[in-house]
Amino acid sequence: MRTPIIAGNWKMNKTISEAVSFASELKDRVAGVKNVDIVICPPFTALAKIADALSGSNIKVGAQNVCWEEKGAFTGEVSVAMLLEAGCTYVILGHSERRAMFGDTNETVNKKLKAALRNGLLPIVCVGETLEQREKGVTQDVIKGHVQGSLAGLSEEEMKKVIIAYEPVWAIGTGKTATRQQAQEVHLYIRNLLSGMCGKEVSDGVCILYGGSVKPENIKDLMAEQDIDGGLVGGASLKPDSFEKLVKFNER
Ligand code: 13P
Repeated sequence: MRTPIIAGNWKMNKTISEAVSFASELKDRVAGVKNVDIVICPPFTALAKIADALSGSNIKVGAQNVCWEEKGAFTGEVSVAMLLEAGCTYVILGHSERRAMFGDTNETVNKKLKAALRNGLLPIVCVGETLEQREKGVTQDVIKGHVQGSLAGLSEEEMKKVIIAYEPVWAIGTGKTATRQQAQEVHLYIRNLLSGMCGKEVSDGVCILYGGSVKPENIKDLMAEQDIDGGLVGGASLKPDSFEKLVKFNER
């Protein structure tokens, strides 16, 4: 009942021309894929061109951040309306790199989330603990803080549009994937938290993606878990070949 999502987070990689040539190649490679929502999230500069290159295809485009304000004196920021016009369907919010280096907090993520939802942009909200927090045994407290703080004050209708990505910080870019059991345990914990916030029916419909060293070699195992509904992929989304394999996880 939850359609799997495979989303590539390119982070600060690829110029416009690199992004467009990737998109044209990927489009053909995944043309026949059904029942998987395919998303790529390039840097802002490539969004409009990539969305043009992919129009009419089965690949959607997302941004990696957005401002909660509509317009005005906010140097360096990009609004929801700008992203929609550039062709975005999704936006990643609260990625751990933004939380650690660029000041994103549960409060600002919540404001961005509400701005996105008000205007029909689908949010992928990232949550996850650091290695230190895991070793201290406070993973659930951290996840609870991220989920309840970032998603505070949403109606049931709004919650139905939210996608969550569990990304343990210690697994990002390290080659060290959470085991499927470790990931499933946190995903189930997140679903139970959502159930407490908006009821079981709504929480059962929310897609929860796993992110952190997802690769063609481990995606199938991860996807076999009950509460893992897709992947948010960094490094392995940068090559058409490996991204194609991820998207076709079901066919291998
Ligand atoms: P990697 O897949 O490179 O570990 O990155 C994960 C990530 O941060 C996706 O948002």
